[in-house]
Amino acid sequence: MCGIFAYSGPGDVTQTLMDGLRKLEYRGYDSSGIAFFSTDDRIQCVRACGDISELEKLLSDEVRESSGKTGVHSGMTSSMNGSGIGHTRWATHGAPTKDNAHPHRAGPFYVIHNGVIENEGELKNLIDPQSLASETDTEVIAHLLLRFYKEEKGDLVKSVFKTMNCLKGSYAVTVLCEERPGEMIAFKQGPPLALCKGEGWIISSDIYSVGEDVQEVIFLEDGEALFLKDQEFQIYDRQGRKIQKEFKIIPREQSLLDKKGFPHFMLKEIFEQPDVTRKILENSIHRHEGQLNVKPAGGDHESFNRLIKKVSSVRIVACGSSYFAGLFGKYLIEEFADVMVEVEPASEFIYRKAVFDTNTLILFISQSGETADTLTALNRVKEKGLKTISLCNVPNSSLDRQVDYGFYMQAGQEVGVASTKAFTSSLIWLILLAFHFSKERKTLSSEREKSLVKSLLQLPPYMEQVLGYEDFFLETAEALKTFSGFLYLGRGVFYPIALEGALKLKEIAYIHAEGYPAGEMKHGPLALIDKNKAVVALLPSEGILYDKTLTNLKEARTRGAEIIGLGGKDTSELKKLCNHYLPLPKLPEFLLPVLAVIPLQMMAYYISRSFGYNADRPRNLAKSVTVE
Ligand code: G6P
Repeated sequence: MCGIFAYSGPGDVTQTLMDGLRKLEYRGYDSSGIAFFSTDDRIQCVRACGDISELEKLLSDEVRESSGKTGVHSGMTSSMNGSGIGHTRWATHGAPTKDNAHPHRAGPFYVIHNGVIENEGELKNLIDPQSLASETDTEVIAHLLLRFYKEEKGDLVKSVFKTMNCLKGSYAVTVLCEERPGEMIAFKQGPPLALCKGEGWIISSDIYSVGEDVQEVIFLEDGEALFLKDQEFQIYDRQGRKIQKEFKIIPREQSLLDKKGFPHFMLKEIFEQPDVTRKILENSIHRHEGQLNVKPAGGDHESFNRLIKKVSSVRIVACGSSYFAGLFGKYLIEEFADVMVEVEPASEFIYRKAVFDTNTLILFISQSGETADTLTALNRVKEKGLKTISLCNVPNSSLDRQVDYGFYMQAGQEVGVASTKAFTSSLIWLILLAFHFSKERKTLSSEREKSLVKSLLQLPPYMEQVLGYEDFFLETAEALKTFSGFLYLGRGVFYPIALEGALKLKEIAYIHAEGYPAGEMKHGPLALIDKNKAVVALLPSEGILYDKTLTNLKEARTRGAEIIGLGGKDTSELKKLCNHYLPLPKLPEFLLPVLAVIPLQMMAYYISRSFGYNADRPRNLAKSVTVE
């Protein structure tokens, strides 16, 4: 939440800031702003409400105006070094207005911030509250810096540490000081900040925002502060001692801010799912031998295998769609590896007494690897000395850097705020992990392994087949968009998919939807059913859960609901019972959820689009939730 992009070096500073901010916009799009040194060593600050295009318009007007007045093209230096800070905001304190947009100023200091200062009220006693021009917690940081800078007679390092010592909560902060051209400051506790070395220096919330040619990176750790001066830098640890940190070389994909002809990133990402699955399977199975080849990308795989042989239980901790993927993982790991699994949203896990035995393995799932609640949960379990693994889409994210063993989702950059391909990648990885556990614990026969590999390989073409049912998605979306509420039902492995389907609809179409275990419908939600409600039911291909879900569906139909069915069976009874029914390709039941989620993503997307909403940027949400 909130993106920070700062630059110091040669070239067009404002252009560099704007290019960086555009790639960080997924972190918040309530407002944006930049502050930069113009060629007369004054700081120019431009802020705008709404997305980056608003800032762009304003910036060209202001720069044009100031060029007219001063004869200089502000911030647009070429061979000379310049510096500036940029911010894209997801509002926490204060409405998304221009006054609350960052940077915030106190005297010579211009501050941008990602996070939440929890003791903001108390800190106002240390400054003159009359001097505050916004409703934000960030402005308090700027005023504290000013106060301590005066008290410490211009000692910047002391002023920064005095400020940090006052702050409670989470923060990644970057600062420019008008009295000190050529200098830049950054400090953090919680949200990520990385220093990247290119033609100049970049400080950013996310290394994806930096060109792929820039590969040398230092990640700031909590409590650290960075001081950049005349292209040299010094980092200090929490105690205010100078420390040396080595650059890491991080080869990576360029940020792919290209919709490749799709109207939205979300749709592009939905269509990428078959190829993502192919890539994961290529790296994690021996196709010809019909064997699994599951290894963590980070951490020694032999010690990982020794560990999973002795774990007594697994605790999965995650948020949002990653939490729902975790629920799916529970069904799989318990079923196939015979290991007890508990799953909990990170925000619940961190504020209660959680009891484990020492052989509990904790699995964190996070697309971004930066979700604040998930990271707090990681710190809690590390304090207890438990072993940790992560399933994460962003290598070198805060989560990935701190766990004992890291698995990468390999979904590629996900730009759409509502998760799609990272969710399906998580499902695939959880299937692989469940069977890998089973193999290492000697409960998987080689015949079973071969047949699993064969079925897994059918997934990508079947996913493509499902994506081809566009007419069905468009027609159902059109028919469903007028319904005032949706109930998504499933049992067993389909229950977490029902939750995910309902979440997609809420997130991007702003329609109330609930995911429910189909058998629980009679204990409450049935009271909501009438002809204005739609029920989306996910059915297995056969067996007791098929029969039971069918009964639940009939109960909803009897009460007048519009019925949308998806499942592994194709019968005239189902087609008659459902107003809209989509048969899915035949696969073993535990793999079918990977196919079933696709129509749910597509229907939510088309309903959202029919209302004219931007599915990539759902209101009030952000992709990377770095505040609790
Ligand atoms: C946000 C995103 C969701 C995501 C959740 C958890 O709410 O909009 O799509 O599922 O955060 O994020 P994580 O990066 O930890 O998977």
